[in-house]
Amino acid sequence: MSDFLKNNILFGGDYNPDQWGDEVLKQDIESFKKAGINLVTLPVFSWTKLEPAENEYTFEWLDQILDRLDEAGLHYFLATPTGAQPAWLSTLYPEVLPVDIAGRKRTHGTRVNFCVNSKKYRERAAALAGKLAERYSERKGLAGWHVANEYGTFCYCENCQRKFRLWLKNRYGTLEELNKRWNTAFWNRTLTSFEEIMPPSELNDDCIVNPALKLSYQRFMTDSTAECFENEAKLLKQATPGLPVFTNIAGNIKVLDQNRMLKVMDIVGWDNYPAPDDPPSLSAMYHDIMRGLKDGSSYYVMEQSPNQQNWQPYNKIKRPGEVRSIAYQGLAHGSDSVLFFQMRQSAAGQEKFHGAVISHSGRTDTRIFKEISGLGAELKKLGSSIIGAETRCEVGMIMDWSNWWALENNSGPTIDMDYISELHRYYCALYSNNIQVDFLKTTSDLSGYKVILAPLLYMLPADTAKKLIQFTENGGTLIATYMTGWADEDDRCVYGAYPGLLRDVLGLWAEETDALFPDERNGICITEEFRRKEGFDQVYSSDFLCERIHPEGARVLGFYKDDFYSGEPCFTVNEFGKGRAYYIATRPEPAFLDALIKLLMKDCRISAPFPVEGAVEITVREKNNNKTYFVICQDPEGGLIDLGAETLTDRLTGETLSGSVKLRFRDVLVLGND
Ligand code: GLA
Ligand code: ZN
Repeated sequence: MSDFLKNNILFGGDYNPDQWGDEVLKQDIESFKKAGINLVTLPVFSWTKLEPAENEYTFEWLDQILDRLDEAGLHYFLATPTGAQPAWLSTLYPEVLPVDIAGRKRTHGTRVNFCVNSKKYRERAAALAGKLAERYSERKGLAGWHVANEYGTFCYCENCQRKFRLWLKNRYGTLEELNKRWNTAFWNRTLTSFEEIMPPSELNDDCIVNPALKLSYQRFMTDSTAECFENEAKLLKQATPGLPVFTNIAGNIKVLDQNRMLKVMDIVGWDNYPAPDDPPSLSAMYHDIMRGLKDGSSYYVMEQSPNQQNWQPYNKIKRPGEVRSIAYQGLAHGSDSVLFFQMRQSAAGQEKFHGAVISHSGRTDTRIFKEISGLGAELKKLGSSIIGAETRCEVGMIMDWSNWWALENNSGPTIDMDYISELHRYYCALYSNNIQVDFLKTTSDLSGYKVILAPLLYMLPADTAKKLIQFTENGGTLIATYMTGWADEDDRCVYGAYPGLLRDVLGLWAEETDALFPDERNGICITEEFRRKEGFDQVYSSDFLCERIHPEGARVLGFYKDDFYSGEPCFTVNEFGKGRAYYIATRPEPAFLDALIKLLMKDCRISAPFPVEGAVEITVREKNNNKTYFVICQDPEGGLIDLGAETLTDRLTGETLSGSVKLRFRDVLVLGND
């Protein structure tokens, strides 16, 4: 990692000056200096400009731009502009164009509109990446490589079909094994040759009715995309071994298994675009998910909007202070950058109305430019104090892409299955109590945590089950929910009762699962004894799914309120080894989860850094034994943090604070011991 990256919060963003002339470029550079911008990413979509015909390269225009940036002392992530291929490439080699799930060959246009397995695409992309590496690796301002842009297009072409068959052969070895794992005997899907395997398709509804096939294709497309990234990345790595090579993960993170993608990326790059009406807990959760992808390492927010977007249904301009609080939320959760899409608004095209640091007006006396400049000055003050700083959590939450896909590929039990929003419910209870959480893989080491939440861990690999059992045995507290442990990694359901491998540790078995209509409710009646001891309410409402469970050693803490299973258990705890495992068999209202988290905080001695009033978000990052507290007031009514006897300095203002501190909506404090 270069000294520049080690010492600076990256501040700037996507900039594509090939859209305008040198005069504007010069003006922009002046403006960047005014705002404290230190890095731009370019040229994300300029393949044709760099290679107007096959093997004919025109780098001079980019040389000139980079000269100017170097002169100004600016740094840059150089992008391989392979997120959109040139029209000549699609025309000369139609194999580059993807085939969609309905079997239709796409025509040239838009972006991320190529087949990730196309040999020609990969050949031409690598050729260009190689040339860029050769030409620019010694450049003073080069800080790293941004490959392509927001991968995620699935292709179903004949070439992909062939590769898919090889991929399956590699995974399952024999056809016999594949037939067994996929249970193809059902609905007469038995395969008699690998050649008969076709990708999921809308033409025969295999994308809906064949979950094993769909899941395999999701895994295969992720592997193909990772290879496509590596095809360029390896050349860039060779040229500049010390610089990070990565791509920017799109907002729709579900499409590709990001844990798999991160095996080949040096650092997480992510595009953060909260919708105007998203709760701050949701973007906080996404940040934490991003931090989890590289096992807790800091990451880069590669894009956020400095003002309105153009692609929301209603594109609200950012309210005063909003960009700043969104930026600090990223830093608070583990990002080392505040980067925007985009630095200057484009004159025409799809995104001409998307917000930018410099708007069409070109002026630096706009509200947004002034806010960005203010932020730039603040980030300079923070210097290197948070770069690479760690987040230390006592609570972990398991999140897994195969589980996500499998849950939502399922036909039943409910059409409303939405894994991320289920995780968000549990996350919210932690967030509102200011308990930080690490997102963990099914393969992560769990031993350092006091509490592990594993909501809806439907697809449970045997090794993960073993880890969860050991974790509990050794004194950990496990929280599991409805739909745990139903299936193995090939989405085959367990014979011998759910929750399968976790039956012992949870001390129960689940007989059947009732899906509730959207407006239907059941309830959790807390037992008299537990209520008296732990201060839970008497009844909580529940909805979505209700599992009928039978304790086999677990103690019952709550019963169903309604329906023919009223009086049956729905909330239990099982003492297991030195630890305990809670089971929540139905989806509870937030107040229940809040009470549960408060109970865990007490029992496991986990506490928020400071008490607050109102929706005040606190996170801590630590570097060289120095703690930095990020405090963001997310409450429109304002709030309060009580620092008690601690005396801390606000690194942004230099002010010394202690006792109770009043906060207005979107106020940010960055507190340290210095
Ligand atoms: C994405 C892309 C950018 C731009 C922004 C607009 O994240 O990576 O190129 O289109 O969205 O919000
Ligand atoms: Zn293809």
